[in-house]
Parts: sequence; structure tokens; C-alpha cells
Amino acid sequence: FVLLCPEFWGDVAEDFFWKTKYTGKFLDYNFDVTKETFLIFTNLGKLNLLNIFVETVNNYCCLMRVIFLGVVLDREGNEPGDEKTVTYRELLQQVCKFANVLKSQGVKKGDRVSIYMPMVVELVVAMLACARIGAVHAIVVPWNPEVDLCWHSLIGGASEECEPVWCDSEDPLFILYTSGSTGKPKGVLHTVSGYMLYTAATFKLVFDYHSDDVYWCTADIGWITGHSYITYGPLANGATSVLFEGLPTYPDVSRMWEIVDKYHVSKFYTAPTAIRLLMKYGSEPVQKYNRTSLKILGTVGEPINPEAWQWYYSVVGEKRCPVVDTFWQTETGGHVMTPLPAATPMKPGSATFPFFGVVPAILNESGEELEGPSEGYLVFKQPWPGVMRTVYGNHERFETTYFKKFPGFYVTGDGCRRDKDGYYWITGRIDDMLNVSGHLLSTAEVESALVEHEAVAEAAVVGRPHPVKGESLYCFVTLNDGINYNQKLEVELKKQVREKIGAIATPDYIQNAPGLPKTRSGKIMRRVLRKIACNEQDLGDVSTLADSSVIEQLFENRYFYDCKKKQMLIT
Ligand SMILES: *[C@@H]1O[C@H](CO)[C@@H](O)[C@H](O)[C@H]1NC(C)=O
Ligand SMILES: *[C@@H]1O[C@H](CO)[C@@H](O)[C@H](O)[C@H]1NC(C)=O
Ligand SMILES: *[C@@H]1O[C@H](CO)[C@@H](O)[C@H](O)[C@H]1NC(C)=O
Repeated sequence: FVLLCPEFWGDVAEDFFWKTKYTGKFLDYNFDVTKETFLIFTNLGKLNLLNIFVETVNNYCCLMRVIFLGVVLDREGNEPGDEKTVTYRELLQQVCKFANVLKSQGVKKGDRVSIYMPMVVELVVAMLACARIGAVHAIVVPWNPEVDLCWHSLIGGASEECEPVWCDSEDPLFILYTSGSTGKPKGVLHTVSGYMLYTAATFKLVFDYHSDDVYWCTADIGWITGHSYITYGPLANGATSVLFEGLPTYPDVSRMWEIVDKYHVSKFYTAPTAIRLLMKYGSEPVQKYNRTSLKILGTVGEPINPEAWQWYYSVVGEKRCPVVDTFWQTETGGHVMTPLPAATPMKPGSATFPFFGVVPAILNESGEELEGPSEGYLVFKQPWPGVMRTVYGNHERFETTYFKKFPGFYVTGDGCRRDKDGYYWITGRIDDMLNVSGHLLSTAEVESALVEHEAVAEAAVVGRPHPVKGESLYCFVTLNDGINYNQKLEVELKKQVREKIGAIATPDYIQNAPGLPKTRSGKIMRRVLRKIACNEQDLGDVSTLADSSVIEQLFENRYFYDCKKKQMLIT
């Protein structure tokens, strides 16, 4: 493959400070598991990530520009009014202090540091302090009193000076645990320089970042979006960004737009699930606030259904702001398929085209590459700097999960359709595809058809085993505020899906779901819904669930209207 874009990445690398400079070949790799798999981004030289903020003062204008600007991280806490502003210089001082604390605890380069914190500046500080001394950070859930230490008892007398530890390009930067469809978490490992180049470049180009922008990503830092597009990408660009700890609906459903107005947010990045949630309340709560500062709207986390896209574009962005529908994964480190704002003609619901250096392909079940308009498995033919390097502590699982199915390709696990214009449409996890009487159906498409109904705010569709069809469609629907669930609506919804997709996709069951089981990052836990659909009480590992009270409610609501028998039955 010749499209590795070495010149492009070379230019990006020029913008950073390298203790020893890269030479020669940038990228070497092998995707064929029948040989020894590796994905190594070599010869970039030695650097320290935090030096983006330090040594660069003399070498590159990033830090200085930011210091002159003053405001860097606005912490927007849960109570309106509870906020603080941190400049890059203050951030650096705090990072050095905490790096010294870590050193005093005996932490050294290569050690792993688990961090357990809410969305506060100190979380960013702790991550960067690890980077400063070459330790590997991992953000976790449970607190362990046996080994864990409390921040405030440590930080007090620490010095504000801490020499950087120089790292090799391929030294690990962090481990991030992702649940995966089987429920057993995988530790996705990212390395220092490739990840930095990738998040810096994607942030700059995908959000068309300029020094007068105010950027706000609503994600949780504990999620990859928070790592790449709250912490590393924006900070590497010296961006002014808003850090938000609260809920989009507290104290009321205008909260997001109030913040956009107050801080003159110009680049806004959120998840379709948040958009659908706010869409339920109509346009009035949005229009109460001034959004003229907005320039680009981004989405992340799952394919955005066209209905939500239109609302986001028309109501939030007043049809002025390009929508960047970014497709990527914890494993990819940064955006891999995305429009470039104002350069790529948009199609609502399509992540459009690959980012520079990313080469996608669509394969069929037997691993043959499909040309032209087609639908199948989304794979990548070659690495890009930000791709994960291994599953921490289990390289075999890395090979099995991502490379075994189709040797020579990185398998995303997502399905994808390419239309006649060459646009890519992510159809959702391959394990979210249903096989109904031999027809493959995408749950995302059925969900999209359901939410096009004016009564429906959100939908999640899973398969339930069926003696004849193999699988049947079981749909959970969350209704818009003020709408009651009834049989007439259920019949309408079934009709709607049948008309949009075809008779084969007619749902067997529709269940009213006032709440859906979601992870803290807003991803619907379909694995849990599949169990509820089958009335299996043993849900397995649900530690990543944001609100466990929805589960009980879902089990209680397991009834449906049988059109033939004309009565309510338990599913
Ligand atoms: C909205 O904000 C812009 C500046 O961001 C300002 O020029 C404009 O007058 C404001 N509009 C209203 C209606 O307040
Ligand atoms: C796709 O798969 C089928 C069998 O599974 C095969 O017959 C067909 O030729 C493959 N290739 C293409 C390009 O469709
Ligand atoms: C779908 O299910 C049928 C049996 O109902 C099976 O024969 C077929 O191979 C399945 N197709 C796929 C792609 O899994």
C-alpha cells in the first residue's frame, strides 16, 4: 500500500518538540495474523507529551499563544455558577505538582496508574502528570481503599517543577477499558507519539480549529472521546475548551445552550443520544439562547439517525453550521471516517469519507472486497498513527478480535454500506445485525425508522430467538415527553417500520421503555436488552451501567399487544 501519507504526518510531527528527531521510515506494520502481528509506528524519536506545553515555549508558539489568551479550561460544574478557569500555565504547574506526588509514591516510567475521579480539572491534571513522567494511565470505576490514595492528602507541599521524562515513540501512553459485546473488558493500549499526532491533527482539521475558537465536547473524560477530544487533541492545539461535569437536563433542558451562549462556544461536539434526548423537548428551549457563536457541530458515539441530524443542523445550528458526523472507536484512537467541515458535501446520517491516511474497504462474509455500492463488513487496509497497539496483557486477544476474521485487515466489528456516490454509512455493530428468516437486518435501520415517528424519542432494537424465523425483532421505545403508550401507537409503529424497510422487518414485539440501559458514555447496552427481551434475569457484568434503576422498570414493562389475539400478553 502506498497511501501511508508519510509527508502529511511528517508535517504534523514538525509542529512538535522532539528531544531526538525522527528519521527515515515512519510506519511499519503487518496486519496478517498468520505472521507475527504488530503495528509499529517507528523512528519518530524521543519526546514527552507534556512538552507540548513546556519546551515548546521556545520552539513553537502553542503555549505562549494560550497564555496570552488567558482562559483555557472552563470547568462548568453541575450547579450553575460553580465554575473555575485554569490557564495553561496553571495547568502545567498543577501537572508538575501531581507528577512529583506520583514520583514520591515511587511511580516511574512505564508504571501503570489507575485514576478514579469525576469530571474535574484534576482528572486532566492526573492524566497529564502520568504523561509527564512516562507512566501509563488507566481511568477506572471502583475505588479500592487497600491501595488507593486520596488526592488532597498528597498534593499539599509538592513542588511545581518537574523535569519531563523522555519517551520513545512507541512507549505506552494509556490503557482504556472497553466493554466489548461479550461483556469482558479489553484494555485498549495507545502509545505516545502516534496517538498524539493523530489526535492533534484530527482535532485541528475536523473541527477546523482556529485560535479564537471556544471548543466544547460534552463527553466524559473516562471515555475515549474525553481522552482524545477533551484532553490530548485540544491541549496539543492550545485550544480553549469547556469542561462540563453536569447533566444536559439540569437544572433544565436549556442547559447546553445556556453554556454555548455564555461562553460563546464555536465548536460543539456531542453524542446522538444527547441530541435525541433534547429533541424530545422541542426547539423552544434551544431558541431561548443565543447560538450565533456556533460554527461547527460534531457528533460521536454511534451513527446519527437522519431525524436527529436534521434537528441538530436546523434547530441548533440554524442551518449555518456544518455537522461533522465522526466515526471512530476506542481502538482507532481518533476519527477515521468523517466529513471535513465545509469541504465535504454532507448527507445526513453518513460519516462520509475516510480521514487522511485511512483506507477503508467493505468485505463480504467470505472476506472478498466489494467494489462500488455495497454493504458488508467495514475493515481498514493499513494503520494510521493513532490506532491501538495491543490489548493490554493479552496480545492474542488483540489478534483474535481485530485480525483473525479477515487476515490482512483491521476488522472494526461494524457493518457499513457504500452508496453510489462513494459515501460510507455505518450500519452498526455486526453483532447488532439480525438474521430474520435468512435476511440480514441492521438494528440501526429499524431504530431509525422507529424514531422517525413523532411519538418516539429513542429506540433500541435487539434480536430474540424465534423457532421459525431464527430471530425476531424486539424493539424498546422511549416516547417523547407527554405522550402515552397505547395499542394504537404500537400498531402505527409496526406499520411505519414495515413501510420504511419492508415486511421482513416488521417488529414482533414493541415495549414501552421510559429509560434505556446505557453506559456512562451514553451507549445503549444491547447485551442487557437482549437478556430482558428473553426474560433472563442474570444480566452478567453491568458495572458500566449509568443508572441501574431502569433495569427493574424494563423487566416490569415486558408486555405487548398481540394483534391477532387482540389482547395484552407477556412477551
Ligand atoms: C447574539 O450574540 C452575538 C455575539 O455572539 C451578538 O452579536 C448578537 O447581537 C446576539 N444576538 C442577540 C439577539 O442577543
Ligand atoms: C462474496 O461472497 C460470496 C459467497 O459467500 C461469493 O460467491 C462472492 O463471489 C463474493 N465476492 C463478491 C465480490 O461478491
Ligand atoms: C441466517 O440464518 C439462516 C438460518 O435461519 C442460516 O442458514 C444463514 O446462514 C444465516 N446467515 C448468516 C449470514 O448468518
